[in-house]
Amino acid sequence: MATDVEELAPLTEEQVRERLRAGKLVEGLEHMSPKYLEGMRRILTVSADTELVSAPAYLRAAQHAPALNNFGSAMSIIQDELAHAHIGYRLLGDLGVDMDWLIYERPASQFKYPYAFDVPLNSWVELVCANALYDQAGFVLLSDVHKVGTFGPWKRALAKVDKEETFHLRHGRTWLRKLVKEPDGKAEVQRAVDWMFILTLEWFGLPDSQKKHSEQLEYGFKGQSNDELRQTWMAAVVPFMEELEIEVPAHFEAEHDRYEIDCPFPARFDEEKREWLLDEGPIGWDEVLTRWRARGPMNRDYVRTLQRGYQTTSLRRAA
Ligand SMILES: [Fe+2]
Ligand SMILES: [Fe+2]
Repeated sequence: MATDVEELAPLTEEQVRERLRAGKLVEGLEHMSPKYLEGMRRILTVSADTELVSAPAYLRAAQHAPALNNFGSAMSIIQDELAHAHIGYRLLGDLGVDMDWLIYERPASQFKYPYAFDVPLNSWVELVCANALYDQAGFVLLSDVHKVGTFGPWKRALAKVDKEETFHLRHGRTWLRKLVKEPDGKAEVQRAVDWMFILTLEWFGLPDSQKKHSEQLEYGFKGQSNDELRQTWMAAVVPFMEELEIEVPAHFEAEHDRYEIDCPFPARFDEEKREWLLDEGPIGWDEVLTRWRARGPMNRDYVRTLQRGYQTTSLRRAA
């Protein structure tokens, strides 16, 4: 379990702020205050968990690859994701968190990745849609950290991660362009986008007006707010979907110079059918948070897959 932040991070809030104002990066615990450390652990855990769980999620869908070389491309994406997860967990280890517990012993319900990954990807089409939508979300979030982040070791590592994420989303886009040329392929892409698009909108979290954890912006963990990141993602995805003639519930509103969501949002989701119950109108974020906290259908299964090897072999670190 995490060692006490008070003991590990010696600086006061003012000293951290002063360092950041001077344009210096935070290089380790010696440059952190307890609040900075706590916030950095939180955002790194979400990031590493997201990378890690994408591996079993993509592996499940990769089994439907149309040919062996396509399976190979999917495998190389999965290897990238495991390496991205490793970067995050290794940094958390440096920040005093017990990595074995975090990766291999933590209960599935305590993982912090976006709810979208708890909904199963059941086909090759759904995998490439995930590359175009989910990897785009990852790219938006991580490029923001890469640009404005204040924790040096993470910021530098993201140079490589960013390039690999570009490959993942290009993989998705190339496949989608090909699939929509056939009527059946296009219908299947539309069906997948219908549930995945809104799940990715949710990914960016609570609207700015309801957001907690203000240290994320204050300390330069992030440059853009949740709503701004959601806009950045739509600016990348909506025009691409228009090019494919795939319908999405969002459009650019020139008058306000921003993307508008055209369906009730947030909304109720039937996770068994993978359908949005839009007729029931918008719901409150408290209901969304309840769904997220309960986790979705694949949570235990994916975490079990990731932890099985550790639990059945003798790779544990000696005490
Ligand atoms: Fe990744
Ligand atoms: Fe990725």
